[in-house]
Amino acid sequence: MKRLFTLLMCLSCYCSLNAQNEQRIQNLISRMTLEEKAGQMTQISIELLLKAKDGVPIEPHQLDSEKLKECIGKYKVGSILNVGGNAQTRENWQSLITQIQNIALKQRLKIPVLYGIDGIHGNNYTSAAVLFPQPITQAASFNPDIAKRIGQISAYETRASFIPWTFSPVLDLGRQPLWPRIWETFGEDPHLVSEMGKATVLGFQGEGQADKYHVMACLKHYMGYSMPLSGHDRTPAWIPERELREYFLPQFAEAVKTGAMTVMVNSGEINGVPVHANKHILTDILKGELGFQGFAVSDWQDIEYLWQRHKVARDNKEAIALAINAGIDMSMVPLNYTFTTDLIQLVKEGKIPMSRIDDAVSRILKVKMLAGLFEEPTGKASDYPQFSGEAHHRANYETAAECITLLKNLNSTLPLKNLKRILVTGPAASSMRALNGGWSRNWQGTNSDTTESSKNTILEAMRDTFGASNIDYAPGADFNGNTNFPEALNKAANADAIVVCLGENSYTETPGNFDDLTLPAAQLDLARTLAKARKPMILVLTEGRPRVVSSIEPLFSAVIQAYLPGNEGGNAIADVIAGKINPSGKLPYTYPRYGNSLHNYYYKYTESKDLDPTAGYNPQWEFGFGLSYTTFSYSNLRLNTDKLSEKGTITVSVDVSNTGKIAGKESVLLFVSDLVASVTPEAKRLRAFKKIEIQSGQTQTVKFTLSGSDLSFINTSLQRITEPGDFIISIGGLKQTFTYHL
Ligand code: BGC
Repeated sequence: MKRLFTLLMCLSCYCSLNAQNEQRIQNLISRMTLEEKAGQMTQISIELLLKAKDGVPIEPHQLDSEKLKECIGKYKVGSILNVGGNAQTRENWQSLITQIQNIALKQRLKIPVLYGIDGIHGNNYTSAAVLFPQPITQAASFNPDIAKRIGQISAYETRASFIPWTFSPVLDLGRQPLWPRIWETFGEDPHLVSEMGKATVLGFQGEGQADKYHVMACLKHYMGYSMPLSGHDRTPAWIPERELREYFLPQFAEAVKTGAMTVMVNSGEINGVPVHANKHILTDILKGELGFQGFAVSDWQDIEYLWQRHKVARDNKEAIALAINAGIDMSMVPLNYTFTTDLIQLVKEGKIPMSRIDDAVSRILKVKMLAGLFEEPTGKASDYPQFSGEAHHRANYETAAECITLLKNLNSTLPLKNLKRILVTGPAASSMRALNGGWSRNWQGTNSDTTESSKNTILEAMRDTFGASNIDYAPGADFNGNTNFPEALNKAANADAIVVCLGENSYTETPGNFDDLTLPAAQLDLARTLAKARKPMILVLTEGRPRVVSSIEPLFSAVIQAYLPGNEGGNAIADVIAGKINPSGKLPYTYPRYGNSLHNYYYKYTESKDLDPTAGYNPQWEFGFGLSYTTFSYSNLRLNTDKLSEKGTITVSVDVSNTGKIAGKESVLLFVSDLVASVTPEAKRLRAFKKIEIQSGQTQTVKFTLSGSDLSFINTSLQRITEPGDFIISIGGLKQTFTYHL
């Protein structure tokens, strides 16, 4: 109820503000020339405006005043994005943004520039800003409060750099583990993505107008981007509209309802149509059905790509007409002004109606107003004393602590107690890059070992936690396939336990494409070699996507999934190993056992082991799986009625007891199975979840309320319906049946 109230308040603030500003916007539009309108619809990368030497921006970045005048004075550009390579200090950002806004405010209509950056896990483009766990890691917390807190702190630290707009959250559904951006998502379940997404939007934007501590969110990549058939980024997806509506659309719809005012469009094609040219998806569904009042920005160069790559247009002009008429409002051009000049021509030639231009521009101006830019285009440096402060770093550690997921713990191997010597090894052991992944101070996250050198790697944190003299180290292998097994094996012989840190180096987008989901051979061989020492082995995974480990998993007594845990990840991992943190993360995706057998947990019955004993759903670890150092037992699952009517609700309660010796947090997941439906039902779907903390020996009753809409699906006429029939609710292995009737 409280959440609903907050949501309604938030919506009403955004809407009433829109009503107030409508007049102002119309007034501005009536005074704007076509050139000024085309400029507002143009977004340019800052790279184009920086002083450079041999094509590389000079550090720290400096704006070239002639280029800036050309951009804003001549082309009247309304939006600038990104960083020209590497993160800048907060002070330099403040100076860059102030220079940009000063020029913008000298123009005839004094319209401020909307500056946007990719803040995927914190304000990753400002040096020293907190680098949180990546979204896939956050999702493992199954705790929307965590997502909201991250959103709030990220917004504060972004606004501290005078930047009002962030290209986040990623609401793509992470159900294709080969896709190199799965770690930017909140995982494979639409409900989990929706809940984490809404909380992030509220954290970023606050509960009304974005003030000096909040930023505008950008939902991306609308929609269906995450499911390329090949798994390779920006390659064709084939998703029937029924499935789009069932799995890919709901999280965008929810975030729009929550007040998100910008959306970035999917770079790929679906069913042979690039989404940047898809009027049905961009206009009919987004702006029509969802009632989206904000603006849609293209992804990087994607209007040009309509002719250069997708080949659905003959030239730039044809591509622009296609995209703008389909519903794109702003083009992330981003490295020239051809969009602006060609757009002006197209309007003059009558190929794009002025009404479409006015619609796009009024949406953009509305967002600038909501971001507060007309009142305060920059900010006051002294307003942000908590930037990169102790409280923010503590929140980062607490987040990582709540996300790390314990996947195996034979005979309570963990926590490690009373051991004399621990060998820490593997390519991820001494790497900040492996903890942070991409979008970390630069696009590919390549510099984290330098930029984050003040933070602890896993090895450094293990030394701090267990005492340097108790920790031995041998890399064993690196991410390029180089190995030194003899050294590692020698040291293993003297160890009481071996912590093997395997996984992935940083990447994002197309550079992360690959052809084999199995962990690289050098890493598998390192594990096999170390096993010869016959010591307890603990596998620590730091990886952006679930790499297949089935061939080496039996060699380990314990497995910790740390995903991409961010700057405090090393400390949190060491504290899990030492038992200072009781792990409570759960997998936000299905961990595959085989690279060629990729199912989601909401597989269809024909994919089950029952019907396909040789190759049916048989993951390494299930969605929602995660162990604790304590034990929880579920009992007394009860429903207040076994008949749910169309307008009624059903209350589900379950008792959860902490039967172990220490306090622990537990995410209680409620799944529903539809037994018979006109569209083949999934084995089960997550319909609600709640994270609780229980002291040792205590029991808590957890309650959920469901209504008919929580059981709905999209039928073959593309309608969302709930069909009468029997359903099974399952929580923590307990089941109850009920009937839904009209
Ligand atoms: C990515 C987007 C990102 C944009 C701007 C694109 O390549 O797909 O996620 O927001 O670049 O950096």
